[in-house]
Amino acid sequence: MRILTGIQPSGKLHIGNYFGAIKPAVELQSQGDAYIFIANYHAMTTVQDGALLKGMTTDVALDYLACGIDPEKTALYRQSELPEVQELAWMLSTLCPMGLLERCHSYKDKMAKGFSPSHGLFAYPVLMAADILAVQGEVVPVGKDQKQHVEVTRDLATKFNNTYGEVFTIPEPSIRENVAVVPGIDGQKMSKSYDNTIEIFMEGKPLKKRVMKIVTDSKEMEDPKDPESDNVFALYKLLATEAEQADLAERYRAGGLGYGHAKTELLNKINEHFAPMREKRAELVNDMDYVEDVLKKGAVKASVLARETLQKARQAVGLE
Ligand code: ADP
Ligand code: TRP
Repeated sequence: MRILTGIQPSGKLHIGNYFGAIKPAVELQSQGDAYIFIANYHAMTTVQDGALLKGMTTDVALDYLACGIDPEKTALYRQSELPEVQELAWMLSTLCPMGLLERCHSYKDKMAKGFSPSHGLFAYPVLMAADILAVQGEVVPVGKDQKQHVEVTRDLATKFNNTYGEVFTIPEPSIRENVAVVPGIDGQKMSKSYDNTIEIFMEGKPLKKRVMKIVTDSKEMEDPKDPESDNVFALYKLLATEAEQADLAERYRAGGLGYGHAKTELLNKINEHFAPMREKRAELVNDMDYVEDVLKKGAVKASVLARETLQKARQAVGLE
């Protein structure tokens, strides 16, 4: 089974990204032939600073490798190393009704927020379809927000096959339904847009400051507390064993445990959980040749498939 997904470079990684996207990607590696690419063409719809885009792209590679993506199992590559994707995007765009793109939620949401859309933003789902179809991904793991884009991919692949003959495998989305929304330090969804994140590669004092800022109610130390309605506990749950969770919950309910103490326990858990990844990342930063090599090898592997697909598609449409 060929599993393929793309990730947009998205700035400093936080605990929400880790549990929502990275951990599932790491788990996926053992379930099939995995391809993960860094969607730097897509990122150009929002990042318009060359040095920044370049840095953000390698940062994603560093982050994912540090968090457990194994290049022996996963082909990790930059989207831009597969120029075939652009050619395929053109072919698909000639079959894509405007109305299909006008109905896409992510585009409509951005419009509603007052963005003046570029053609690139409008055509984003066509490029995404090309990413998937060029490598003939069979299963596409994505968050709920991307489901519609995979459906557009299926529509375009079917339309192409009906028009020109069977060229594309129709991909299936695999939606990460059971991933909980991780709360930020203010209790809303953790998101870099809300400045409420806890970054996983943050350490020492700045990290401690961040954890100590988590919003709680104003109960006194001796008061019994409800673990289920508390942000500190919600984060602790992600990182602790069942026995540790039960133990802390009991101390919440008994009273006598201050939120400061609970935060310190959470901080210890964060440090414990992410320490090996921080170490790995620090090693990788000192060995960027290795990281480049991983990305090149991933691109070579994906390119073989993309070239094969494009050959078939070019013949089918009459370019060859
Ligand atoms: P942000 O909201 O910080 O901008 P992104 O939208 O770039 O994050 O999300 C990147 C990935 O991380 C997506 O797959 C998304 O589903 C996941 N993710 C982001 N925030 C959370 C969260 N608070 N809880 C669970 N998953 C999250
Ligand atoms: N649009 C996806 C996101 O924002 C990233 C992406 C680009 C992608 N191309 C893809 C995901 C192809 C899956 C398959 O998260």
